Amino acid sequence: MALDPTTLRSYSWFNGKEYYNFSRRANVRALGISREAFHGKPVIGICNSFSELNNCNAHLRQVAEAVKRGVWAAGGCPMEFPVISLGEQYMKPTTMLFRNLMAMDVEECIRANPLDGVVLLSGCDKTTPAMLMGAASADIPAMILTGGPTLSGNYQGKVIGQGTDGRKIFDLYRMGKVSPEELQEIEGCMVRSFGHCTVMGTASTMAIVAEALGMSIPGSAAVPAPDSRRLAMAEMCGRRMVEMVAEDLRPSKILTRQAFENAITVDMAVGGSTNAVVHLLAVAGRTPHKLVLDDFDTISRRTPFLVNVRPSGQHMMEDFFYAGGVPAVMRELLPLLHCDALTVNGKSVGDNVGGADCFNHDVIRKFEAPIFAEGGTVVLRGNLCPDGAVLKQTAASPELCEHTGPAYVFENYQQMHDTIDSMDLPIDKDTVLVMKGCGPKGAPGMPEWGHIPMPKVLMERGVTDCVRISDARMSGTSFGTVVLHVSPESHIGGPLAVVETGDLVTLSVAERKLHLHLSDEEITRRLSTLQPAKPHYTRGYGKLFLDHVTQAHLGCDFDFLQAE
Ligand code: FES
Repeated sequence: MALDPTTLRSYSWFNGKEYYNFSRRANVRALGISREAFHGKPVIGICNSFSELNNCNAHLRQVAEAVKRGVWAAGGCPMEFPVISLGEQYMKPTTMLFRNLMAMDVEECIRANPLDGVVLLSGCDKTTPAMLMGAASADIPAMILTGGPTLSGNYQGKVIGQGTDGRKIFDLYRMGKVSPEELQEIEGCMVRSFGHCTVMGTASTMAIVAEALGMSIPGSAAVPAPDSRRLAMAEMCGRRMVEMVAEDLRPSKILTRQAFENAITVDMAVGGSTNAVVHLLAVAGRTPHKLVLDDFDTISRRTPFLVNVRPSGQHMMEDFFYAGGVPAVMRELLPLLHCDALTVNGKSVGDNVGGADCFNHDVIRKFEAPIFAEGGTVVLRGNLCPDGAVLKQTAASPELCEHTGPAYVFENYQQMHDTIDSMDLPIDKDTVLVMKGCGPKGAPGMPEWGHIPMPKVLMERGVTDCVRISDARMSGTSFGTVVLHVSPESHIGGPLAVVETGDLVTLSVAERKLHLHLSDEEITRRLSTLQPAKPHYTRGYGKLFLDHVTQAHLGCDFDFLQAE
């Protein structure tokens, strides 16, 4: 398609009779780019979340170089720019505190600069949703290219994955069954390359979600980070973005209600991270197509769980890629998908995945032979979570999914952390562990503290799981019968705040119920005795966050960033 340069968004920056048009051209030349190479060409931004403080994204400069090759080859002019990077491993108190900051960084960098299209390079958990949110709000032609999962870990011939297996190994170390020397050796075997976690954690889930939304090139999500095909994919993204500019293919044409339903369906079928719920609510909130928690439960009930990858299954993301990746899953799911939904390659979902092959049906099950009849995540309701809560049923113990037991309450994370290994904890296998103060405002930032470690006193008795409830999130790599995202959170007076040790709690996944066995009057009486907590921040970004973050069931975006 021939491109009229005067229609480009960047045209007004570089063309005209003003001094600044001249001086901007001079500053492109300052990069050593000739006039012939950029004049009248679409400027393609490469929005890079590379950082050495985020090993998951540490290879993205190399990926950016490949994108540039594609942009040049297609007749565009690439301009790489940095945005903040959110690395799960290092940032305190939690990257989630900064997801919205990154989304603002992405949105405003795109809006303020002479860009006609943008390829967004993400990887670690929050970087993909932040880029989706920013791109949706900026709404110029955009696509996501994730950095891919690491190679599978391997220790003494056994495949291990960061998070899922790491936690199990660390529990054995806490029990004295793995020595400090062994632990040190495992450190060097578990994360064998750059790239994001190689189980179905949040990063893998959000990469898959981006592809299912139509915001990534089909087949791109699962390519391992060190695989040469990821760079070839990057080159293809650069070329395609130049075409997308000519087609004016913006996120607003891709992020439709149908696209969000497709993304939830695929998320449920892969046993995706519970974090995808919060992130998809937030991305959809940047568009006119708002989602609510019940959308997830409705789709979960009709979607079979098909993908046998840890923590809900046995394999790794590398195996998922070799089995056919996202297109192979979507082909199985075609009866449940909106096949007409448009994607960044300019084709519909049906066209993209209709002929996709699956090379290993143990990893990607057939639609009619699922691992489990329903999707990974369920939404719970009840007097303990009036605005909802979530649980990953595919990573839970079936015998605990229908359970009533007495609560043992941790008033906050610190108390839990300091006492969880006490052999005097008055608990048994029926106890329901309840932790307060871990929500968006309470923690603050809703950290991934919800996977309360199994208490040592229970592990000594051979108990490997118990019901755990909090207003926190949980790493997508975690597992167990863990109720998360209780909303409203305890810090702002949600009913979770009044649970006392000994109160009976019922979890029923079949009935989607989370019930505190107290009368409404008693809950109201206890709530009336609560003292307002002191805010964690009184200035700066922290204050902005506390003043404007929404609750988990609304996606934890800032209220003023949502679409009208
Ligand atoms: Fe970055 Fe897991 S730590 S994806």
